[in-house]
Amino acid sequence: MTNSKILLDETIAWVQERVTAKRFNHVRGVALAGDYIASRLPLNLDKEKIALACWLHDSCKELKSSELVTEAKRLGLGPNAFEQENGHLLHGPVAAMTVKEKWNIKDQDILDGIAQHTLGMAPMSIFSQVIYLADALEESRPAQFVMPIWSELGLEPYFETANKSPLGITSEQAELNLAKAMLKASDASIDHLIKVQKPIHPRAVDVRNYFLNKIKKASI
Ligand SMILES: [Fe+2]
Ligand SMILES: [Fe+2]
Repeated sequence: MTNSKILLDETIAWVQERVTAKRFNHVRGVALAGDYIASRLPLNLDKEKIALACWLHDSCKELKSSELVTEAKRLGLGPNAFEQENGHLLHGPVAAMTVKEKWNIKDQDILDGIAQHTLGMAPMSIFSQVIYLADALEESRPAQFVMPIWSELGLEPYFETANKSPLGITSEQAELNLAKAMLKASDASIDHLIKVQKPIHPRAVDVRNYFLNKIKKASI
């Protein structure tokens, strides 16, 4: 077995101990979705790194909001007032710092992908976009949320096909599909927060505007 395979197996076992069975199922789905997106879109991504980021993304999700705030402060993340009031939003950044400490993972793509999976980031790497979308598109999410995002990606859902062959499109087109899917996911998340009268992190709006702008520039 390669070192990376051993690390992946060990980290999966560690995640399984830290989360509920339901959450572990979600995480497994995210890993399947991430691998599927990275296989079908010609984006030249390292699938071992995608797997690690997917498996680790929710490794701190069972911590209470107050614990996440304490951890974020201890780890030097300097949570702002909004994040201290909405501690659950810190589970990504806290997980990134935790796996860095615990597993000595230093790869910035993996750490960013984990840290940015909830709110996104502007600007945002292709790698991080795939992790964000894999999380958003996991099978247990409602169909009315996921189907329009799959449609922007130009793919059928991973749970409805065994086809993993790359689409015959250019990498530029694949990146544009990703940006459109990111915009669709951002819009839907913001819509939902408005409907349920929950606060919106200012960065979620920045991320939405970032992708809107990116798409507009690409279509000029
Ligand atoms: Fe999460
Ligand atoms: Fe998740």
